[in-house]
Order: sequence, then C-alpha cells, then structure tokens
Amino acid sequence: MRKQYVIGNWKLNGSRSQNAELLKKIQHHYVSDYSLDSNQVEVVVCPPTVYLQEVNAILRQGATDIKVGAQTASEYVTGAYTGEVSPQMLREIGCEFVLVGHSERRTLYNEDDAQVANKVASLLSEGLIPILCIGETLDEYELGETAKVVSQQLLSVIDEVGIQAFSKSVIAYEPVWAIGTGKVATPETVQSVHRVIRELLSEQGQAVTRDMSILYGGSVNASNAAQLFAQDDVDGALIGGVSLKPQEFTSICDTRAEKMTLKYNSA
Ligand code: PGA
Repeated sequence: MRKQYVIGNWKLNGSRSQNAELLKKIQHHYVSDYSLDSNQVEVVVCPPTVYLQEVNAILRQGATDIKVGAQTASEYVTGAYTGEVSPQMLREIGCEFVLVGHSERRTLYNEDDAQVANKVASLLSEGLIPILCIGETLDEYELGETAKVVSQQLLSVIDEVGIQAFSKSVIAYEPVWAIGTGKVATPETVQSVHRVIRELLSEQGQAVTRDMSILYGGSVNASNAAQLFAQDDVDGALIGGVSLKPQEFTSICDTRAEKMTLKYNSA
C-alpha cells in the first residue's frame, strides 16, 4: 500500500517560542482528539535548519510520532563549503526527511537538475528520505509543457542515481504558479500530472516504483484538501503557508487520515 503523507514546510518562519507554541497545539490535537498512526499518515514538519534539533527534541518528548525534515541539504559530505549542512549532519540530529529541488531553491538559489540529482544521491547514501519537488512554471503550464517538464526533472535524477532512487524517495508535484499564490491546480489537473509521473516511473522500473508516494503541493488548505485527496494518484500534500496554522494543518492531516482508520480517543 502506498504511504500517505502530510508535510509542512515552514520556510523562513518561526522562532524558538513560536515553534514551541505551534508544536504544542499540533500535539495537543492528537493527544486529546485523535491518535495519529504514522503507518497510515506520516506527518512531517520541516523547520529552518537551525531549529531542527530542538523541534525534534520537542516532538520526541510528545506522544505523537511526527517526524522532522530539513528544507535543503548540501550535496557534499564535508569540505570547504561555507554555510552548508551535510546530509550526515542532518541524520545525526534526528532528521529523517529532506526537501530537494523545491522551486524556491531552483529559482532563488539557481539549483539545477544536475545539482538536485546529486543531492538526492547524497541523501540516499546517508539513509535520509528525499522529498523530491518537481513542477512547471506558469509559462510552461500555459504552453502545455507540464508533462515534458516534470518528466525531464525526473529523468535527470534517474540518469544520475538510477530508478532505484525512487524506492526510498517521496515525490511532490508542485506547480510553481500555485505555490504561495492561492491558485490551486484543479483536482483533475493534479490527478492527470500524477498519473504521468507514475506511468513514467513504472516504465523505468515497475517493481521499484509500485509503492511510490506522490504528494501535491501549492496553496493546499483545509477547504481544498479533501477534493485533492480524493484523486487516485494523490498520496498526500506538501504544505507551506498553512503549515504555520495549527488548526488548519491538523485538519488537513485528519482529512488525509479519514479514509484510513482515524482513531478517536474516547476521553
Ligand atoms: P504553499 O507552499 O502551500 O504556501 O503554496 C507550498 C510549498 O512551497 O511547498
């Protein structure tokens, strides 16, 4: 069965006190209202790097099984790379997931497909789970080039790491024009792109990619999540802005869990 995910990307937001408050509210929801079963919905939060260790410590003390992920990582293990953080360092402080190739990294920090592929290789070699972000720009969308763009982004990783990379990765389809804009892709569009992704990957190696989870990201909120999650090939969501709003974030997690067996606490 394909694993379901709800992943919160906090981006450049938060402070020690704000993080603690946000996590307290998220955890309280799960302790008082529902039990969150990570076998059914894996919930991951991705704070800024400097807070990863503390966020992980808070989460490990709580009763939920929410995991931490980093927003980026170096492709290098060690050396003269000022300002970088290696996959090994992230693993050492308890990080299990890392976003790779987010469109903000691609556009603002010029990360190209080759670098993204190297990062995926580097993360996998440290036993971390890459959350590979792919997606087209508005121009590409309007030109009808979505399938071509996402295929190219996937093939560049396959060329570098092999199809094997996808047995231990998560994919997030995030149309660039939908990120932080309030413009969500229609559920039908999302479903059709996810199908293209799944078919491309199974052509390359069906056994490896059978259980591959493909998430959607881009202006997901509590009102549109159910329709997106109703699509056959949507296995969860990568959430930016709304991941900082505890009530809305937990509502999206619950929506994803609803089709599974959400356990209500009786007390
Ligand atoms: P958004 O961001 O939910 O604010 O659109 C999504 C993302 O950047 O992953």
